[in-house]
Amino acid sequence: MIGIVKGRIANLNKHSFYLTTPIYYVNDVPHIGHSYTTIAADVMARYKRTKGFDVFFLTGTDEHGQKIQKAAQACNKTPIEYANNVVNKFKELWNKLDISNDGFIRTTDELHCLRVKKIFQRIFENGDIYLGEYEGWYCIPCESFWIESQLEDNKCPECKRNAEKVKENNYFFRLSKYQKDLLAFYEKHPNFIQPEPRRNELLHRIKSKVDDISISRSAVEWGIQVPTDPSHTIYVWIDALMNYITALGYDDDMGKFKKYWPANVHIIGKEILWFHGVIWPAILMSLKIDLPFKIFAHGWWTIEGQKISKSLGNAIDPLNIIQLYGSDAYRYFLLREVPFGLDGNFSYSALIQRINSDLGNDLGNLLQRTLTMVEKYFNGIVPDDSVPEEEIEKLSQETNNRMINEMDELQFSKALEIIWEFINYINKFIEDSKPWALAKSSNSKPQLAKVISTLIKALRNISIFIYPFMPKTAAEIQRQIGIKEDDQHICFDIRERIKKGTEVKKDKPLFPRIEHTVTVQ
Ligand code: MSP
Repeated sequence: MIGIVKGRIANLNKHSFYLTTPIYYVNDVPHIGHSYTTIAADVMARYKRTKGFDVFFLTGTDEHGQKIQKAAQACNKTPIEYANNVVNKFKELWNKLDISNDGFIRTTDELHCLRVKKIFQRIFENGDIYLGEYEGWYCIPCESFWIESQLEDNKCPECKRNAEKVKENNYFFRLSKYQKDLLAFYEKHPNFIQPEPRRNELLHRIKSKVDDISISRSAVEWGIQVPTDPSHTIYVWIDALMNYITALGYDDDMGKFKKYWPANVHIIGKEILWFHGVIWPAILMSLKIDLPFKIFAHGWWTIEGQKISKSLGNAIDPLNIIQLYGSDAYRYFLLREVPFGLDGNFSYSALIQRINSDLGNDLGNLLQRTLTMVEKYFNGIVPDDSVPEEEIEKLSQETNNRMINEMDELQFSKALEIIWEFINYINKFIEDSKPWALAKSSNSKPQLAKVISTLIKALRNISIFIYPFMPKTAAEIQRQIGIKEDDQHICFDIRERIKKGTEVKKDKPLFPRIEHTVTVQ
């Protein structure tokens, strides 16, 4: 079956969904910025799985290049020893954050290295790689080449740190050859790069001029050797971008590649859009491989108003936040606080405010109040839901539909707003239907049963809606309302009936109020 997905033809039979994060450098431990992208990708992966997609969610680490080589030297370690240590930190954090990635690629993996060499050779044979002389500037922290006119006060325009002058014989990729094809592609696929303002910036830049790019380094040892010329290593960005296809086995073990490529979305931060939106598509064009469906470049987080940086020493360790407030609260905050695509500012006070108000008052109290009433009025057994409140059934369905629209556009904060509208509606429904008054007369017992069973069903649906964002909380709600039998079985169907005789298991509040302001780093 063939279907049109936002202007591109997609094979709907496959029902697959491939999404990726950038692969992170291992010169530094993971911070809130890395966790943001990975959490967003995880939310999308979980959401798609609940909708029946066969998801492949890839993340990993970018381990070659001058930056890692220098960082390792500085602490008297070999680059691989150094990398192994940081990779473990990333893995530990992803584990604590309930990241459900299906693959974790390291660019030092043997298979990745072999495949990168083969791909490089293929591009070479296509006539898109040539040997030339590079004279210009190089920023080690960004692993980026710059020409003199791009520098600002001799500093890298991206990270504002000193760039170094480089003159070496390098291999070049004929990027300029693809300028026209790229522009035609963007034109034909207006949703390829998002959000819109970033797409426009990129278009503006590529329309003005595109130079061929250097894709090897003769001065850098820590990298994958150019297959025909071991005196060069492949430029770390080329090595890194290829992870998106080498992880699928391209091109010696094509099962996964056939199933999952083209990627549905590469989720990245805005600073690496040129690499993903221009260089990567041109490489794929050279290899005659289909381009991904979408590249989404999100905004940047600052910490209490300042850029996150090693030198400022302000990088908050997400493990501390998780330990203090739990991973779900952290996941919720990051995606609720800032529309995906815009920049955001992290502060403990904003986090605590969200936990107390949205999670504690709106959601946590709704569960507690409802369960208290089931215990008090029905001895802990959920009354039969054969006559549901129609309006709320309808609202559940509407919420689900509206949420789907936002999730498919990666508009996570809007999806959460929609869920919270529903939560608030249910809270108001309690006030309006006054179960405590109904409980006073035995004539109103059927009406009371209807209200309470509606509340339980609404809570079950809320747990389904929030699951991609807060998997632990979703499971806990289902456990407390008595519908989750074990750790495996979570209900994802908002139309399912609550079984007769379901017994609630009221437990501790989901998000106890935080009274103090902590600023631990
Ligand atoms: N290794 C390259 C990516 C290669 S992908 C083929 C790289 N690594 S990185 O470690 O610097 O990670 C950059 C990514 O981390 C950003 O694109 C973004 O996804 C995330 N973030 C790092 N700092 C960030 C913020 N301050 N705010 C939000 N996300 C940022 O670039």
